[in-house]
Amino acid sequence: MSKWATSRWILCGLLLLALNVQADLNEQYQLLDAIQSNPQTQSESARLGEEKASLCGYCHGTDGNSKREFIPNLAGQNAKYLINQFEQFATGKRKNYVMSQLADKLSLEERVNLAIHFSHQKAKPFVAKKPNSKLSNASPAQGQAGFQAKCQMCHGVKAEGWDQLPRLASQPAAYLVKTLEKFKTDHRDRNQSPMTAIAKGLSNQEIKDIAVYLSSLE
Ligand code: HEC
Ligand code: HEC
Repeated sequence: MSKWATSRWILCGLLLLALNVQADLNEQYQLLDAIQSNPQTQSESARLGEEKASLCGYCHGTDGNSKREFIPNLAGQNAKYLINQFEQFATGKRKNYVMSQLADKLSLEERVNLAIHFSHQKAKPFVAKKPNSKLSNASPAQGQAGFQAKCQMCHGVKAEGWDQLPRLASQPAAYLVKTLEKFKTDHRDRNQSPMTAIAKGLSNQEIKDIAVYLSSLE
């Protein structure tokens, strides 16, 4: 087989693999839509999700409001985004020691139930136990202007997100800074993301300003 023919087969294989991942995700979205279209199945799913959420409380808080500044809130997050991230952790596209193992063990139904449960919780602005000295020179007013110019077209006027786009309002500032730095540097934990190109256009000061602004939003 010529070199070109071989690489074409590899390319086809990769494409099929990518489509397969998408098919899995679509199946989960369909299940989510079906459950959410009926109030009874929705509340049953939320109840099952709440039971399973005892596994998550130590880090994300039992009501989905994070206990630590490097851990994201799940409360009020869009269900589709949560399902999308479980899939990314399970397939290795996004990497985190604990989350990758957890996501891989959760069944399709469990992921959907957890996503519905956490999306129904109310997010509260994160208050750090002690002020983070790295963020002391950040300007929330500059952050607001930056967010309006560069982010709100996708993440929403109140940073509430929609569909697969994450809510950013009330996330701990340190988590946002760490995440945006990972996008900016194309870090292996979170590369191949549409956010990479966007974060490359942000200065370190802009990242801090926007993060502090977002964490103060309800
Ligand atoms: C030992 C701590 C720990 C436990 C337990 C844990 N997580 Fe996480 N989780 C994390 C950390 C840390 C991150 C952030 C990873 C990163 O920086 O990319 C995270 C990220 C996530 C994200 C991505 C959120 C976002 O905004 O992108 C989801 C979804 C998530 N966790 C769901 C869960 C669920 C559901 C459970 C329980 C079944 C759980 N986690 C249990 C530590 C934990
Ligand atoms: C073109 C649309 C678009 C724009 C503009 C955009 N984002 Fe995003 N953002 C996304 C998408 C899509 C994701 C989900 C990425 C993924 O799953 O890898 C995301 C994810 C994020 C995350 C990760 C959230 C989490 O919980 O881990 C942060 C933080 C973020 N964006 C911040 C910003 C900031 C700050 C700006 C403005 C400077 C911005 N985004 C502009 C589309 C956008």
